[in-house]
Amino acid sequence: MSEELNKEISRRRTFAIISHPDAGKTTLTEKLLLFGGAIHVAGAVKSNKIKKTATSDWMEIEKQRGISVATSVMGFNYGDYKINILDTPGHQDFAEDTFRTLTAVDSVIIVVDAAKGVETQTRRLMEVCRMRNTPVIIFVNKLDREGRDPFDILDELEQELKIAVRPLSWPINMGARFKGVYNIYEQGLDLFTPSKQTVSERVEIPDVNSPQLDEAVGKADADKLREDLELVEGVYPEFDVEAYREGRVAPVFFGSALNTFGVKELLDCFVRIAPEPQPVQAEEREIDPHEEAFTGFVFKIHANMDPNHRSCIAFVKVCSGKFERNVNYRHIRLNKQLRFAAPTAFMAQKKSVVDEAFPGDIIGIPDTGNFKIGDTLTSGEEIHFKGLPSFSPEMFKYIENADPMKAKQLEKGIQQLMDEGVAQLFTNQFNGRKIIGTVGQLQFEVIQYRLLHEYGAQCRWQPLSMYKACWIDSDDPKALEAFKKRKHQFMAVDRQGRDVFMADSGYVLQMAQSDFPDIRFHFTSEF
Ligand code: G4P
Repeated sequence: MSEELNKEISRRRTFAIISHPDAGKTTLTEKLLLFGGAIHVAGAVKSNKIKKTATSDWMEIEKQRGISVATSVMGFNYGDYKINILDTPGHQDFAEDTFRTLTAVDSVIIVVDAAKGVETQTRRLMEVCRMRNTPVIIFVNKLDREGRDPFDILDELEQELKIAVRPLSWPINMGARFKGVYNIYEQGLDLFTPSKQTVSERVEIPDVNSPQLDEAVGKADADKLREDLELVEGVYPEFDVEAYREGRVAPVFFGSALNTFGVKELLDCFVRIAPEPQPVQAEEREIDPHEEAFTGFVFKIHANMDPNHRSCIAFVKVCSGKFERNVNYRHIRLNKQLRFAAPTAFMAQKKSVVDEAFPGDIIGIPDTGNFKIGDTLTSGEEIHFKGLPSFSPEMFKYIENADPMKAKQLEKGIQQLMDEGVAQLFTNQFNGRKIIGTVGQLQFEVIQYRLLHEYGAQCRWQPLSMYKACWIDSDDPKALEAFKKRKHQFMAVDRQGRDVFMADSGYVLQMAQSDFPDIRFHFTSEF
């Protein structure tokens, strides 16, 4: 095991910030970059958030997403640490992108709006974290506004996100009366001064019972804080780093990203407790990041919407060993040796060619069709990393060829867009028709546009009222056959040829579940 590799691994922290739109993800990301010296003024981060006015104009969205390629991964140094933040699209129609990004991180910070609490998108993303036992830290944001009682927020986090929580800081009032937070983790008082640029000052107090606390925040608030902290200590077990790293408990911080308040405390605690790059499970075996041989996988492909530059960028997460420029690596699916002359790293908001990368790092590889999502690269060993399972789409449509002369182009276009993970394709076994499933309406528009502009193919959508796609299996082959026969009109296969039951309503699904107890219904493709 090389010294260099060890050192590089132990200083890396690769994570994603996730939230419901508007909770403050962009603002928090920006403040973290400020601390890392990656940017120098607030407002420098181009929001990956889709502007509200443009929700129906997806070309505009793609343009904004194009801008965001550079900010897809933000690497910066903070003290001895090398931090990689993986950005995720704010628009919920691109939730699949976010799910996939979560396969490439070792931990997650969830931002929650103190007034709104847990919102839908956060709940769904948390489900993905839970599937993988990803460690999460929660940042309760916007304390400068009137929000809910912190104990209520904690209860809601626990119930809605289905994870035990443990506050590591505690707010003193909220909104106009917000005075600051007591840092339970480091035992210090951080007083709040509203400001969008500067960093809060720490007041050292020997312990919460000291009169200095009364001086700093006034007697009434000091007493309330003491009372709250006593309750916190009584209700929540002591913070256990191992439980956090195993995804069993989520530490909670309170602050205000806009005011840069509580952000440094979050970051300082984060680098100390968040896990370094972790082993990754492949089909064959578990890969330890410290192994000398390089391995990595593609978790995202970003197509270039500019018709003059047709190439894509494949985002590769380094899982083990050292990646080097111009060295031959094996592309497992194609069984082909490839070497990369211009791999890029993402540091301080800039994309630049790199000579080497270490586990936890993300490299961008310019690509013209070699890569699919989930592809594995290695120094030679036959390894297949397990991707993230597909989730049942939310919307379904039949896709039809609108230009009979271009059937081949359409077929190729559909296959390639599916490889990129734009949507999911199912083929109905009864009538042979192709069904595209997406998370949101926008993806249908994206597909149609790209088929035309990149493949010269025209498609038409036919409505299909569908509730969910469920992957099915059974220990009893006869029962499975009987089910498929009974439901033959609603049976489809996914691209891997697995059986999928297309339930057209929740009721139908429930009936099927009770009528066929030997059949297992899965809402993700991995079971
Ligand atoms: P997102 O990426 O999660 O979608 O959220 P974003 O950071 O864009 O923040 C959403 C809105 O919330 C922004 O206001 C932002 O300024 C505000 N915000 C973020 N953190 C705080 C906070 O700690 N306190 C308060 N009061 N507001 C906060 P906006 O008006 O939508 O955008 P902008 O015009 O200010 O950029």
